[in-house]
Amino acid sequence: MPNGARGSLAVGGGHARWAMAFCRRRPKCSVTVVNSSQAVRAAERPLASTNLSGRITQHAGNSLADDPGTGYDLALLFSVIHGFSDAQNQALIKRGAQALIPGGLLVFVERLAGRAPLPTANATKVLLSASYFHLLGKHNWDYQAVRTGLLAAERVKVRRTNSPLLPGTSITLGTRRA
Ligand SMILES: C[S@@+](CC[C@H](N)C(=O)[O-])C[C@H]1O[C@@H](n2cnc3c(N)ncnc32)[C@H](O)[C@@H]1O
Repeated sequence: MPNGARGSLAVGGGHARWAMAFCRRRPKCSVTVVNSSQAVRAAERPLASTNLSGRITQHAGNSLADDPGTGYDLALLFSVIHGFSDAQNQALIKRGAQALIPGGLLVFVERLAGRAPLPTANATKVLLSASYFHLLGKHNWDYQAVRTGLLAAERVKVRRTNSPLLPGTSITLGTRRA
């Protein structure tokens, strides 16, 4: 995370638990969570039971169409790209990159296609891929596709790391250059 980072955008932030965890770890940070209205409603009560509601703002909206604003240090796309088409993901990446300050990071956490390091993680990944296909008609993106999408956005430098806590889950970082 960039030093001094404060404002984050969580695209499809779901139950907002990541945003809560993030704000607990980073007392000076705030997160804007954009989500479907159903998910926003579901997160309202858990959020109200914390002392973080002043730092976490929820917006019911459509990340594929709505302008998220600008000036964010981080744009978090955790487990969202598998739900969109390739063209939608390209647009989402471009929009996310434009929302960042120079030096800001696009952060993807996703079970990307390809072999996982452990057999159980691999089996989970295969099952997830099958369910994305059957339930959503979509597929797991692989790292090359994420990288290509990121590089197609303006002025983004890409690197990948694997989650030390979740075998088979990749963290892909796109840094917006100045
Ligand atoms: C698999 S969940 C991931 C939730 C969360 N990021 C996480 O890692 O736990 C995908 C989320 O994307 C949201 N979503 C789907 N389409 C969206 C859209 N067009 N705009 C905003 N959010 C969307 C869903 O409501 C859901 O909360």
